[in-house]
Amino acid sequence: MKIQQNISLKKYNTFGISVNAKRFISVDSVYELQQLLKVEKNLFLISGGSNMLLTKDIETLVVHIDIKGISIDKEDEKAVYLTVNAGEDWHEFVLWCISNEYGGIENLSLIPGNVGTCPIQNIGAYGVEVKDTITKIEGLEVASGKLVTFSNKACKFGYRNSIFKNSHKGKIILTSVGFKLTKKEHQLNTSYGAIEAELISKEITKPTLKNISDAIIAIRKSKLPDPKEIGNSGSFFKNPVISQSKFLELQKKYPKVPSYSVSNADVKVPAGWLIEQAGFKGKRFGNCGVHEKQALVLVNYGDASGKEIYKLAQKIQESILHTFGISLEIEVNII
Ligand code: EPU
Repeated sequence: MKIQQNISLKKYNTFGISVNAKRFISVDSVYELQQLLKVEKNLFLISGGSNMLLTKDIETLVVHIDIKGISIDKEDEKAVYLTVNAGEDWHEFVLWCISNEYGGIENLSLIPGNVGTCPIQNIGAYGVEVKDTITKIEGLEVASGKLVTFSNKACKFGYRNSIFKNSHKGKIILTSVGFKLTKKEHQLNTSYGAIEAELISKEITKPTLKNISDAIIAIRKSKLPDPKEIGNSGSFFKNPVISQSKFLELQKKYPKVPSYSVSNADVKVPAGWLIEQAGFKGKRFGNCGVHEKQALVLVNYGDASGKEIYKLAQKIQESILHTFGISLEIEVNII
């Protein structure tokens, strides 16, 4: 374990923001992390860095979670149970599953980030949320350094939400995630319009896991910027949930407003649509801007500071509130 002094965090966050870490350490085992917790409890954790906006230098010890490894705990004819360590790259893990014919997470292809952070915000895309395949989560309790296990139910998963964002925020360092994936009779989810269209265009009628993953990769590449090319953190805001009555009002004014029903009382409206209507799509503001193909994504054109991007986010929030009377909640962690 070696602590480095004054390093830039630019390559550790997908927004590509350069802030200074006064002290930085990379850990590659649970044991190392436990040793570290014996001497220091005030840690700033960084894993894939795909869901954060860094707006200031970090004075506390930055810990890069780099614990790798995938193990098969058990399997039968129908399913496989895996434990995957937190530092594994999410998309590489998805591809590994597909090459082994393990089904369940193919719709979550190409999501940036690491396995250890996927449960925190319950990553989701194209009709699938990661919570549906998670069996358990292991993590170290910061206060005691003990390894604790959470069942799926204990994580209280919701839309882009879990206890790790709420009651347990800052108290647990996730070290591994358990998954149950199918080996046959896969429950394929192709109902999302864009997937169907992509499969039809390729004349695929009986899609394999790989076909679906390839379709998702093509869709994502056509809409979402690659963080290796343009810094970004995926959806910057959550899709707001509004009441049916508020939605009917909105629909009167904008008959084409897209929506997803959440319950009898509530409707989810795509934030990307609201932001586009408000005129922000594809607009550049100094070193940052709103992506030209998906207005829910804020981008760093090179040298933006976190503060600059945060200011733009606030400007968008104010405009959406003013135009539609809807509050947009930021999905990315603002540091
Ligand atoms: N839309 C617009 N303009 C835009 C963007 C979207 O009008 O600039 C409209 C689309 O035409 C469509 C609707 O909004 O009718 C939904 O758009 P899309 O299918 O792109 O999905 P989204 O609701 O904007 C969510 C997730 C994405 C995920 C996609 C696909 C959230 C916050 N975002 O976006 O997740 O990939 O669905 O399932 O729920 C992420 O979290 O980083 C992320 C990319």
